[in-house]
Amino acid sequence: MSTTPESSNPSSSSNGPSGQDGSGAGSEPVLLSLRGISKNFGPVQAIQGVNLDVPVGQVTALIGDNGAGKSVLIKTISGIWEPSGGHIYWKGDEIHVHTPRNATDLGIATVYQDLALCDNLDIVQNMYLGREETKFAMLDEIKMELATNQLLRDLSVSTVKSVRQLVASLSGGQRQAIAVARAVMRESQLVIMDEPTAALGVSQTAQVLQLIRTLSSRGMAVLVISHNLNDVFTVADRIAVMHLGALCSEGPASNYDTASAVELITTGHSSRVPSTLTPSS
Ligand SMILES: Nc1ncnc2c1ncn2[C@@H]1O[C@H](COP(=O)(O)OP(=O)(O)O)[C@@H](O)[C@H]1O
Ligand SMILES: [Mg+2]
Repeated sequence: MSTTPESSNPSSSSNGPSGQDGSGAGSEPVLLSLRGISKNFGPVQAIQGVNLDVPVGQVTALIGDNGAGKSVLIKTISGIWEPSGGHIYWKGDEIHVHTPRNATDLGIATVYQDLALCDNLDIVQNMYLGREETKFAMLDEIKMELATNQLLRDLSVSTVKSVRQLVASLSGGQRQAIAVARAVMRESQLVIMDEPTAALGVSQTAQVLQLIRTLSSRGMAVLVISHNLNDVFTVADRIAVMHLGALCSEGPASNYDTASAVELITTGHSSRVPSTLTPSS
């Protein structure tokens, strides 16, 4: 198991994919490091040479135009696609994520745009789907219900009336909240969200953004895709920009403003943002 990447490191402040003691993306330890990640679909090169560090306790926003490769990139992390090339490191060790189950077992939870919740089940049943608590070979409904209520309280999810409500009856924001709470319940260390606010109204969006901040304040790493720059500047500690399948800029959110972010999204360059990328060899 090698911890030496083939491609050069994108972070000028570190000299290898950072482990628990690393500091590749700033002062926080790096949880996940991508080095030279590419993915082809036949002749179509969806992403190439992506180097990215995702630190613990921080929100990293992944931004870019439609088709830039954001969803493909997170799918290579979450076990939907195997990368065609490159290396993935988790706490400094190289990992191979072949299936979504591999990713969840590691502690990577992904909340997709089309949420994988079951409409015909209630909130508690969704929270524990496939991992139900049992007592004397029976489902321990009381334990699961109490734990769900406690977790929603901990996460300040206050708008859900009853955890015995069917998920079909929830609003978009509440569904997002349940999907995220499920990730927390499974003791995920990295939560990845693909456009979590795309279908939400103003107040629901605010709630989901607040929830994202709560996760990072609990020490989880969050990687969130968004094309809403207001959301990005509200929640992100770090910003990573993709353009035509490549990562074109990455750094602390304070390095960016709306104009430079738009410039990067549309052209892949901005003279006004300090360059923190080291080109891949
Ligand atoms: N399953 C697939 N088969 C072929 N091409 C794909 C597939 N998924 C994505 N792509 C292509 O990869 C590129 C990046 O897509 P995607 O990551 O979905 O973009 P976005 O940044 O909007 O999330 C696009 O050109 C898209 O057409
Ligand atoms: Mg997408």
